Amino acid sequence: MSIDTHATMKLTKRLRRLRHGETLRALVRETRLAPDVFMLPLFVCEGEGVRREVSSMPGVFNLSVDEAVKEVRAAAGDGVRSVLLFGLPDHKDAVGSASYDPEAPVQSAVRAIKREVPGVLVATDVCLCEYTDHGHCGIIVDNEVVNDPTVDQLVRAAMSHAVAGADIIAPSDMMDGRVGAIRQALDERGFENTAIMAYAAKYWSVFYGPFREAADSAPKFGDRQSYQMDPANADEALREVAQDIEEGADIVMVKPALPYLDVLSRVKREFRYPTAAYQVSGEYAMIKAAARNGWIDERRAMMETLTSIRRAGADIIITYYAREAARAIS
Ligand code: PBG
Repeated sequence: MSIDTHATMKLTKRLRRLRHGETLRALVRETRLAPDVFMLPLFVCEGEGVRREVSSMPGVFNLSVDEAVKEVRAAAGDGVRSVLLFGLPDHKDAVGSASYDPEAPVQSAVRAIKREVPGVLVATDVCLCEYTDHGHCGIIVDNEVVNDPTVDQLVRAAMSHAVAGADIIAPSDMMDGRVGAIRQALDERGFENTAIMAYAAKYWSVFYGPFREAADSAPKFGDRQSYQMDPANADEALREVAQDIEEGADIVMVKPALPYLDVLSRVKREFRYPTAAYQVSGEYAMIKAAARNGWIDERRAMMETLTSIRRAGADIIITYYAREAARAIS
């Protein structure tokens, strides 16, 4: 078979030239991941010596405080120096009062981690859904999640996290005005250096499914559409982010990550703020499930998705893959 090379001889630009060999590819690579980009979410439960795997999230565990400390130390060994804590209390009630119990799992874990692994930065998720018996992210009146009374509860939770020593408070409830209310309360109590990472553009997503198993936080009736964002909207995400920044957010977040890379990219470009993206439980579970079936290469899928999230504009990536990815990089 003869190949006519006449046309290609005139090529002056050969984009393939820089794709030859890993050293050259590394030299011209635009997006880099580093272990300190990652934040590892941890689910802290009551008890001692508890390390219970979440069935829909292989490699992710419910951890008692002592086990959480071990996990944080191991993560730091991998180069992951920040964690995001979720609480799994034994006691749930209508108003989520365990969320501001100073002896609850999150508050206890913050104190223990700060004491035992002081170099690690601790962020805490602030929401009521893990603490309410109905599983909604706020207080219910007449089958409605009511905004302002919920904000009062969130402020109590945030304050108790700050008192325990949290470095970053991360409200994930999507109530209006909670960032400003939390900022004001923190400042009044002398916590002006405690940062706020706002789940600013948080969508009503099916990809939180495995998390709700991990945190036992699925709503017992209805859904979260009256407070989480419609997946169809992107301009609205910019308004959410603008409002949270206005109210004092230090870091803004887009969540989930992969299905919302366009939103992430717009948020980063528009505001030039420290921007986090959350690769959520369902994104993680999908890769795990496909890999377990032998349908996808897990390591490459992990690195490709994380790189894409970074390329789209994330400064911080919250991911259950934090430790594995950190090890893969170094
Ligand atoms: C609490 C909260 C959720 C997630 C983070 N914070 C669940 C939800 O909103 O239903 C999801 C995280 C994940 O899926 O990994 N409101």
